[in-house]
Amino acid sequence: MLLASNKQSEELNDERDEIRRRLDIVELVSQRVRLKRTGKNYSGLCPFHDDKTPSFNVSPTTGRYKCWACGESGDVFTWVMKTQALEFRDALKFCADLAGVELSKNFDGPRVDKSERENQLTIMQSALIFFRNELKKSPNSLAYLENRDLTPEIQDEWELGFSPVQGEALAIHLKKEGKHLATAEQLFLTQQDTSGGFHDKFRGRIMFPIRDYKGDLVGFGGRIIGDGNPKYINSGETPLYHKSQILYGMNRAKDKMMKGRHAVLVEGYLDVIACHRAGVTEAVASCGTALAEDQVKLIKRFADKVTILYDGDTAGIKAASRAIELFTEAAFPCRVAILPKGDDPDTLLKTKGPEAVREVIAKAETPYDFAIHRLETEAGTQSPEFWEQIPILLAKATSELELEKHLLRLAGKHPTINNPTAALSALRREVNSHRRGKGTKSKRTEAGPTIDTRIKSVQPAEAVIFKAFFLEPFRDKVWTSISSPTVFVSLTAIDLCKSIQATFGEKAPSGPAINWIGQLPEESQQFFTDLEFDSGVQELNEAFIAESIKTLETISKSRELQGDKSKMSAGDDDALRNYFNKLKRHKGVDDTEQSD
Ligand code: UTP
Ligand code: MN
Repeated sequence: MLLASNKQSEELNDERDEIRRRLDIVELVSQRVRLKRTGKNYSGLCPFHDDKTPSFNVSPTTGRYKCWACGESGDVFTWVMKTQALEFRDALKFCADLAGVELSKNFDGPRVDKSERENQLTIMQSALIFFRNELKKSPNSLAYLENRDLTPEIQDEWELGFSPVQGEALAIHLKKEGKHLATAEQLFLTQQDTSGGFHDKFRGRIMFPIRDYKGDLVGFGGRIIGDGNPKYINSGETPLYHKSQILYGMNRAKDKMMKGRHAVLVEGYLDVIACHRAGVTEAVASCGTALAEDQVKLIKRFADKVTILYDGDTAGIKAASRAIELFTEAAFPCRVAILPKGDDPDTLLKTKGPEAVREVIAKAETPYDFAIHRLETEAGTQSPEFWEQIPILLAKATSELELEKHLLRLAGKHPTINNPTAALSALRREVNSHRRGKGTKSKRTEAGPTIDTRIKSVQPAEAVIFKAFFLEPFRDKVWTSISSPTVFVSLTAIDLCKSIQATFGEKAPSGPAINWIGQLPEESQQFFTDLEFDSGVQELNEAFIAESIKTLETISKSRELQGDKSKMSAGDDDALRNYFNKLKRHKGVDDTEQSD
């Protein structure tokens, strides 16, 4: 058993290596990023953040990319996962196709019983065809849809259907088709009653098929025709449908989302359809549930920012606040557009046209402005409560500009201080007192992503040895040091040696690094990528390597003698400083020799 699974993962590793070897990461990335050659590597503007200078590096040697500014990094597989929003397996398949590598049969494995899922999807598909046909036969439903501007083209596009009023029409249909009704029950389509017969879950409703981001039909939402309760019935949890992980419209929205790296989140089925009709084809909705963390993650895979477009009623505002919280927790930039009370994107489209829908999205405000405006409308600027709360909110500003805008405006509305200048300075004083109070906190939010400076986690001499290990002609020279790591002094280096040993055992890997780097744990791959991009250790020769080993030996010997190996601190040691200077001189010599 153990043997078999080892063999499987070995096969998979080999295949992954083969794919890495065959695919040109530079070519792949070039499809999306304009790359410029810089020495052995390539650089360009990072596609994962709003990059002003080319921080994004691609190394054909390692087959990896890395952004020094935002920290995104990976190989061909993660690149395809991120840019095409695929799961690992699908990215692997995509790359395998591209590289012309056939994946072993074991690959599909027993993750989820595939035939079971296929079978469930077939039943869902049967139900959909049934609902679609029933709609064509129901003048009432068609009239209702027409009346809501849902033309036949839109009905087709969104695959709208109708579930007949008769209690068991779908059950009978599925049975006729030889479908297993117990499975249909699991899928929230039918239900067995006490007498043993089956009845339908959706009756007399307009049916909205819900597909996952790949397009698999996983659930349904059903709206009553006209007024009634409940207005919607949605599929419950089924083997196919996990409502907290699905967003309605994602399969149709994801392309636009990925292109603009922007998503729009609305409240319901008809809002999604309305937005798409208005040209906002990056709109999605959670189906009858509050936004969930998994849905935030899903959006994050396709977009870098989101605009929440909810109704102006109490429920809408509450839901928006909750969504803001979730996005903020996920460090995902969001904006909020709240529609006038009584409007939703669907009614807005109907009354004011597509331009109006796009405009509210364009005018969406930051969560900061949203919170302030909300307090303003809810408490009213004449209430003591407002003046108690507002300095606390204002103090959350991340820039002076953001704060100033509100200060000036609100000071003029102070109910007791009539002199605007006096009101302004009073308000400013209060805000400042709150800002000071949370000092360190606000600093943390301002800091943003940390810039990854060049490798500091290992000693320069260690970096030289790892660099040598990475390069085929020098690998054997350093293998003894790496496979029995007595000379290394930094924890990172020691860990790295351990992971190299664990991966390759007693024999050094052979061939260029791209053939085997993928077998190392992610952090180790990352280390080598950093090293590859580090111009500090570019050229090597044998003398240089030998000297690095010697230097480390000296350091670790002297540490042993001092007997406090555990308290070693990097860089504050004479031997090291000397070494550093030598290294620089060495480099100087190398550089002049190399330049031609
Ligand atoms: P709305 O009540 O705003 O409905 O609920 P709607 O989508 O605008 O539909 P129309 O325009 O009145 O026909 C917004 C969303 O909340 C969920 C549905 O996903 C709906 O689209 N919802 C609402 C339910 O799941 N169940 C309900 O009973 C009501
Ligand atoms: Mn509506």
